[in-house]
Amino acid sequence: MESGNKVIDEALQGTALVIEQDGVQSSKKLYLESYGCQMNFSDSEVVASILAQDGYQTTRNIEEADVILLNTCSIRDNAEQRVRNRLTEFKIKKDRNPELVVGILGCMAERLKKNLLDEEKLVDLVAGPDAYRDLPNLIDEVGTGQKAVNVLLSRDETYADIAPVRLDQGGISAFVTIMRGCDNMCSFCVVPFTRGRERSRDPKTIVAECQDLFDKGYREVTLLGQNVDSYRWNLSAKGEVKNPAEPTTNFAQLMEMVALVSPLLRIRFSTSHPKDMTNDVLEMMAKYENICPYIHLPVQSGNTDVLYRMNRGYSREWYLERIESIRRIVPGCAISTDIITGFCGETEEEHQETLSLMDIVQYDFAYMFKYSERPKTLAERRFDDDVPEEVKGRRLNEIIDKQLKHSLASNQRMIGTVQKVLIEGPSKRSEEHLCGRTGTNVMVVFPKGNLVKGTYIDVKIIDCTSATLIGELIS
Ligand code: SAH
Ligand code: SF4
Ligand code: F3S
Repeated sequence: MESGNKVIDEALQGTALVIEQDGVQSSKKLYLESYGCQMNFSDSEVVASILAQDGYQTTRNIEEADVILLNTCSIRDNAEQRVRNRLTEFKIKKDRNPELVVGILGCMAERLKKNLLDEEKLVDLVAGPDAYRDLPNLIDEVGTGQKAVNVLLSRDETYADIAPVRLDQGGISAFVTIMRGCDNMCSFCVVPFTRGRERSRDPKTIVAECQDLFDKGYREVTLLGQNVDSYRWNLSAKGEVKNPAEPTTNFAQLMEMVALVSPLLRIRFSTSHPKDMTNDVLEMMAKYENICPYIHLPVQSGNTDVLYRMNRGYSREWYLERIESIRRIVPGCAISTDIITGFCGETEEEHQETLSLMDIVQYDFAYMFKYSERPKTLAERRFDDDVPEEVKGRRLNEIIDKQLKHSLASNQRMIGTVQKVLIEGPSKRSEEHLCGRTGTNVMVVFPKGNLVKGTYIDVKIIDCTSATLIGELIS
């Protein structure tokens, strides 16, 4: 997956998580499929860990599964539709094998709660994002012929003590969840309803997890939260110290603690919020070479009135000032974004302001979406979803066209430069090539030589597409 706490539509295809457990013989097989953002993928690793303790081994072969779990996303309607289609397919399997347990986890579970059991009768088990410790009990309940549901949201669950079982794609890069939930109320967004209140994880457990990953050969961690800039430990939202005997930690300090694990461990993070991103964080990025010069800073719209309706808490001018600060404090920093087109009441002029902001910022990369109204959100209650579908689509295409040009130009500017690349493994397209990312998060493909994954190499960039750089070895 790409870095950044965004929903990637390819990711919505669903990815089966398979964990090989050395030496564990078990007859119980778990098939786990994940949709949505990186936090969901990270949660699936927690789920796999909890169920491994209960004797479940994950399988890639759905036919041999005793339990099928779908970790779901509610961010847009199409994300939910895909899961519904998938559940209908499982229903056929279930009719053939009544013993099979089918469960739904994650944001859709939290949003629809037991309606998924009652109205649709597609699943036996529903567990929300804060209920995963209860999964062994819930599965047992289903075994006794009942339907099982736990969608309680918690104010303090962070799964801090659970060592996630890694989705070992080469074991170089891992996600580490540093906080859960979201206290912002962006008017379009379902996440505060599905993930509950914001809470931060104990920094000691975060650093210990990163150290453990490094010791196991990982060379990159991405610190995850819906709004990493509001990470705080031992501090109230108002900034008061909770326990004077304990140190306090903000996000910039946490980054430093993780950066000090080893200069060979790359640090990434996602997502930053334009209203909360401080210069402290930028200065910390500038101070440590192993904190990657890349920020995902979702803008959503380039027009202040639209931003106000979205309840984002910043204006166009504020956002552009944050971009200037990034460029000043972290020169060469790559910047990506998320954009929503066709939000309630968006006029043609307002849309043009998004395009003009893109021209000013020249994003290296962007995730772009048509607005999808979500039940219970502020926007659903206050505004009409009144931009016609074809207008949303046309505006989205204009935005995508512009971004493709900017991405290509950004990659072209790198031709002739030498980039330090962390080798991730073989290139998907050619056995003679390896691939890895620059600090700025662009994929580079280069000849394999005698190189091994998990090491750093200087690569000279000689060519590119809008998505990939082509490099040659220089020494
Ligand atoms: N916490 C992150 C975003 C998480 S959701 C942040 O604040 O930026 C990822 C992206 O999905 C959002 O940035 C937004 O661009 C998009 N998104 C969220 N709700 C949406 C909706 N109702 N319709 C379309 N896109 C949406
Ligand atoms: Fe949603 Fe806004 Fe929270 Fe991001 S910051 S998860 S967009 S409510
Ligand atoms: Fe992530 Fe989708 Fe939930 S974006 S937080 S899985 S609604």
